[in-house]
Amino acid sequence: MSQGEIPGRHESLWTATTPRTNFPALDGDLRVDTAVVGGGIVGVTAALHCAEAGREVALLESGRIVEGVTGKTTAKVTAQHGLRYADLLDQHGRGAARDYADANSAAIEEVARRVEDHDIDCDFERLPAYTYAADEDQREQVEREAEVAESLGLPASFVEDPPFPRDAPSAVKFAEQAQFHPRKYLLDLADRIPGERSHVFEETKVTGVEDGGDDAPCEVETERGTVTAENVVVATHFPIEDPAFYFARQHPKRSYVLAVRLAEEPPRGMFYRDAEPYFSVRPHPTDDGTLTLIGGQNHKTGKGGSTAERYRKLVEQARDHFEVESVEHRWSTQDYVTADKIPFVGELGPGYENVYGATGFAGWGMTNGTAAGMLLADLASDGTRPWAETFDPQRFDPGASGAKLVSENADAGAQFARDWATVALSADTDELAPGEGEVVRRGGKPLAVSRDEDGEIHAVSAVCTHMKCLVRWNDGEESWDCPCHGSRFSVDGEVLDGPAVEDLPGRGG
Ligand SMILES: Cc1cc2nc3c(=O)[nH]c(=O)nc-3n(C[C@H](O)[C@H](O)[C@H](O)COP(=O)(O)OP(=O)(O)OC[C@H]3O[C@@H](n4cnc5c(N)ncnc54)[C@H](O)[C@@H]3O)c2cc1C
Ligand code: FES
Repeated sequence: MSQGEIPGRHESLWTATTPRTNFPALDGDLRVDTAVVGGGIVGVTAALHCAEAGREVALLESGRIVEGVTGKTTAKVTAQHGLRYADLLDQHGRGAARDYADANSAAIEEVARRVEDHDIDCDFERLPAYTYAADEDQREQVEREAEVAESLGLPASFVEDPPFPRDAPSAVKFAEQAQFHPRKYLLDLADRIPGERSHVFEETKVTGVEDGGDDAPCEVETERGTVTAENVVVATHFPIEDPAFYFARQHPKRSYVLAVRLAEEPPRGMFYRDAEPYFSVRPHPTDDGTLTLIGGQNHKTGKGGSTAERYRKLVEQARDHFEVESVEHRWSTQDYVTADKIPFVGELGPGYENVYGATGFAGWGMTNGTAAGMLLADLASDGTRPWAETFDPQRFDPGASGAKLVSENADAGAQFARDWATVALSADTDELAPGEGEVVRRGGKPLAVSRDEDGEIHAVSAVCTHMKCLVRWNDGEESWDCPCHGSRFSVDGEVLDGPAVEDLPGRGG
């Protein structure tokens, strides 16, 4: 299968199997103790923790909650993040590696506790997680990972015969990890936030956050009024305010997921191959039998060619491993990877002492994001967590991240120059087929032109509103993606992913 229609409904299993939420929009100005911006796993977790700590909270979501990255995850709830711990130990030392292990283990237990205490029906299940060796050459690395992880207190062991794939020479196994349905879990949490003192507002886009410093409260500007708060949690995946140069300290990793029905029983456990590209497998129970989630085909956003082709390759990979009866769903999303592999969680940056943020979960935000929500809620309530220093966004360890940081930026700079020099001088957009898009130069200005499935032409500026790189067509999602720092825009120019916060001008043309 190289061309043609990609099988499967183009929607995540999580949004397709839960109702849409319907929280009210903000209606005028409001004063609360803590404003939380963004209703993904970080925002919902932080807002509920704050409300439970007795704070008056407003959770502000631009669209509908849990439809962002969290609504498109694979939803493994595990402290096993590929082959991560030996690296953390070597680069950051035992203290930081232990903090990372502790935070992510605490997050699993937090989810398990809530599921049990509130009797949340969210397909939560304990399962072992395996990261298997891609080949014999990776054996030593896998063996060391198991040793290091065990020494950090994780339930890790080295196994010679993992249940999947058949030819895997070895794996590191973490016992007692978990998986769930992220929307069923988080919609239950979100329903517990509103009350006399706290609120969830949807369709309320935040346009700016100002820290009042020692003397004045913070001001959160929205399109529907101003929220005044003692402190603010920015949980917008990529922070909508960037006082700490987050755009240069992390890169966006896009990847793809299929929910397939197999002719056989899927293997018991959650599986991961830590290679480029990664490959991920896990079962998920539904009323209609067990589906298998297959993930992978990662690449930097805006780079790496046709994204429709990524879906096709993933279907081929699924068929190489299993007898696939049908592809039920397919979806994709992106997460940011920090240069030193540790997320940024804490005070947002210089001049933002009462504003906190979290980003950079590297594809492991179910636990990292839960831990972040807990830590941010504590910081907003004058508390802290033992692992706070390790995750501090204002850390800078040149040894661990400096070289990577320089190369990320050089990469973005070169991209900028190359694309501006080579953009087509003109092109016949009449020839665009439905689902196609192209950047062309019109009157000296680069224009992003696409044709939708109904044959209608859309044209917006092709100049990314973040730092002026040229966007590229994403044929799998029909969006405009920026190769420099990963911003994404709809065909009518609306921001889908940051760091850009402003839409591409010329919407709806
Ligand atoms: C393909 C893929 C698979 C993954 N699988 C796993 C997995 O198996 N296990 C795991 O641990 N992690 C996984 N991850 C990572 C995990 O899904 C993410 O790290 C996590 O969901 C990020 O959550 P978040 O709350 O930061 O962001 P989001 O869920 O995106 O939430 C941010 C919210 O902020 C809102 N927002 C943005 N701007 C504004 C604004 N101006 N005003 C108001 N609201 C705003 C958005 O609409 C959104 O709802 C995966 C990632 C990818 C890409
Ligand atoms: S995301 Fe930075 S220039 Fe586009």
